Amino acid sequence: MSEKLRLGVNIDHVATIRNARGGDHPEPVRAAKLAAAAGADGLVCHLREDRRHISDRDLERLMAEVDLPLNLEMAATDEMLEIALRHSPPGICLVPEKRQELTTEGGLDVAAAAPRLASFVASLSSAGCLVCLFVDPNAAQLDASLAAGAAAVELHTGTFCDAPPGAAGQAELERLRDASTYAASLGLEVRAGHGLSFDSVAPIAAIPEIVELNIGHFLIGEAIFSGLDSSIRRMRALMDKARAEALGERSA
Ligand code: PXP
Repeated sequence: MSEKLRLGVNIDHVATIRNARGGDHPEPVRAAKLAAAAGADGLVCHLREDRRHISDRDLERLMAEVDLPLNLEMAATDEMLEIALRHSPPGICLVPEKRQELTTEGGLDVAAAAPRLASFVASLSSAGCLVCLFVDPNAAQLDASLAAGAAAVELHTGTFCDAPPGAAGQAELERLRDASTYAASLGLEVRAGHGLSFDSVAPIAAIPEIVELNIGHFLIGEAIFSGLDSSIRRMRALMDKARAEALGERSA
């Protein structure tokens, strides 16, 4: 069981708000520095093909000006590979991407795209990036991720977060727990993210094999009401409390 649960703060939606007016405010780099001061362990941004939030310039500045490891989410396209190899961020998370979607809708089908993904993982790993694949919590995707050479997987928590209270959410939580245990048994680093909020984070943070949660939209939205520093600190506190309680229950 990991005691330290890392928080990666995704600042894409600071850029979404900036882009609504086309100017410079609010600046993602300023938000990233604030996230570092509030206790984030890493930064996450998704450079999309359509540049709907983070821009190429943002990526350059985040790499140069912010003292936190950057995890770049990207689709497995030749354009993104070229950009990633130019910057070599410490972390890359390969995600599926569709132009029409509002946000990443599901995990990668790693098995279906195995040769292409394996070649991306190999190129990025050789450049010194730790490569993670964003997948749904099922064993076939985890086996395929290992075969593709990934060092880590990020389990998609969106279905869990969107489920109404009750049996469906509980079943999805069980899938996430089982997938975490299985991924760790394969030697993959286990992360999780998508859709997490103050209400949904605790049961995910309590899953012992998970070492990192990546959270964006809720934190930036909540910042409207309480400020970014407060929203990140509260998320961090909820994560740490859930992990400490899970550890306590194990040792009792
Ligand atoms: N992890 C991955 C791989 C994602 O694509 C996203 C969304 O960009 C997140 C985490 C964060 O999701 P949310 O913004 O819903 O917290």
